[in-house]
Amino acid sequence: MALALLGVAACSRPSDPPAQPPPSVEAFLARHWADPIAPQGSPPAAYSALEASLSPSACGQCHPAQRDDWQHSLHAKAMGPGIRWQLLLMDQAGANRCLRCHAPLAEQKALLAIEHGWPAAPSQPPPAYVEPALAQEGLVCAACHVRAHRRYGPPARPDAAPAQGEALVHGGAQRTPAFGDSRFCAHCHQFPDDGPRTAGKLHEDTYAQWLASPHAPDRPCQSCHMPGRRHLWRGIHDPQTTRDAIDVQMQLRPLTVAGRYEVLTEVRNVGAGHHFPTYMVPKVELAFVRVDASGAEQPIGQRVIGWTVDTAITREIEDTRIPAGASARFALPFDAPGEPGWAVELRIVVKPGEHYERTFRDSLARADRLPASALPLLRQALQRVVDAEYELMRLRRTPAG
Ligand code: HEC
Ligand code: HEC
Ligand code: HEC
Ligand code: HEC
Ligand code: HEC
Repeated sequence: MALALLGVAACSRPSDPPAQPPPSVEAFLARHWADPIAPQGSPPAAYSALEASLSPSACGQCHPAQRDDWQHSLHAKAMGPGIRWQLLLMDQAGANRCLRCHAPLAEQKALLAIEHGWPAAPSQPPPAYVEPALAQEGLVCAACHVRAHRRYGPPARPDAAPAQGEALVHGGAQRTPAFGDSRFCAHCHQFPDDGPRTAGKLHEDTYAQWLASPHAPDRPCQSCHMPGRRHLWRGIHDPQTTRDAIDVQMQLRPLTVAGRYEVLTEVRNVGAGHHFPTYMVPKVELAFVRVDASGAEQPIGQRVIGWTVDTAITREIEDTRIPAGASARFALPFDAPGEPGWAVELRIVVKPGEHYERTFRDSLARADRLPASALPLLRQALQRVVDAEYELMRLRRTPAG
């Protein structure tokens, strides 16, 4: 910690020439995402209380555009009821393994330790630059941008006016291309090689999927999830983002047996930079229905796109994810009705939290084994995953064309 503070002092005059060449992206990220992240320590004496604060609301006073985007993103909701009820069942070491991605600052972990009464909780009240709400605010600005109270960010935009003078707010910012690199995101969106696996596959493998995709040479994660540097991070929870991920072609074909048809569908992953979807959590459900002239409906069949594993996460049920650039084909035979005027409809429903829905229902079924304080959070978590479901699109085809 002492060293980190020295670092602040040594770098606080931006006009000084750098003492050594900037570290490589790899070396920067190894330090930046050291696990655990060190406490920030005392803020530089020149900082106002506003500059010292780690709260997104403080950053947002001067960076309102990023705050407005961030607060609607899932990163801002990373300490929702879905993780909070589980923390009530854990000891501090176990919880900190989750918090590495969900609330990574040392100051957030300390607040949560106090809240849960964990034995290693700090005995001192938090310093002034740590507001109590910080623990529930999830993946906050400071977790990505602040180390030892110094700001780190991407290279200045080409059109930015050069920073001048001695009185830069929060000492200016250290700028590095690491912020535009996919490896920046990999810290939380990719498990290491020795991470947990089912059926030989890493539970989190997004960076590796991207690296093997046609997007790797020129489309880092940021180019899709932070367009124009916006702090959106829209993914499968957002209908428009998910619509842009796939191209769906569907046609009807008469079979040789009279009155028998086949509905042929191709779903191509044209817009996701990794498998569609990347994790085991979401499912995309395809329901094929024959709609007769009278309006009566006859189900033809269902297919699921996703990686389905049991709730213990030990057994793979099926893996039908579509790698970037690849496609999945479905052929379902059915009988045409006697009356003309019928059509086939494909209805695609997205369940962004399907795996958690099953897990949470399992846990609720064994509610007698849970602490009473966990139950309202667990019910709220289940409600949230159910509410996140939506119909993505509907396609209709008639035998004529
Ligand atoms: C009192 C206003 C103020 C507060 C509070 C503030 N900033 Fe800044 N920030 C600035 C200004 C002004 C600059 C431009 C400095 C420069 O040109 O180097 C800046 C630059 C940055 C940069 C470099 C990228 C860029 O746009 O130039 C990052 C990243 C950043 N701030 C993050 C944060 C974070 C995270 C917080 C909260 C923990 C925060 N700031 C709080 C005023 C503020
Ligand atoms: C410190 C860990 C961390 C880092 C770094 C991080 N993320 Fe995340 N990300 C998370 C967590 C945790 C969630 C899930 C939050 C929740 O739903 O509770 C998430 C959610 C997301 C989602 C939303 C997915 C959905 O289901 O719709 C996207 C997209 C995303 N991250 C992209 C990125 C990108 C791009 C980067 C790099 C610029 C990045 N993340 C960096 C931890 C991180
Ligand atoms: C390596 C980073 C990482 C670690 C460690 C991690 N998570 Fe997550 N978590 C994520 C990401 C990324 C998502 C988003 C997944 C998605 O959108 O499909 C997520 C989503 C979730 C969600 C669903 C969203 C919500 O808020 O309801 C829950 C619940 C959750 N994690 C709980 C945990 C628990 C409990 C632990 C510790 C046992 C943990 N996570 C450890 C990265 C992580
Ligand atoms: C998950 C990590 C993450 C979080 C959380 C995060 N940022 Fe960023 N931020 C980034 C990355 C990555 C970039 C660079 C994106 C790029 O180069 O395409 C960036 C860029 C910026 C910039 C420079 C924008 C520009 O147009 O040059 C500012 C300022 C900034 N962030 C402030 C904030 C503030 C304020 C918050 C909280 C409200 C915040 N960030 C939350 C990762 C994050
Ligand atoms: C070419 C654009 C593109 C690139 C590059 C890209 N993504 Fe995505 N990402 C998407 C789209 C579109 C979705 C929504 C469909 C889906 O879930 O696959 C998505 C969804 C997600 C999700 C939601 C969870 C899930 O199970 O699908 C996460 C998390 C995510 N991306 C993280 C990343 C990370 C991390 C990287 C870089 C290693 C990255 N993405 C690169 C377009 C992209």
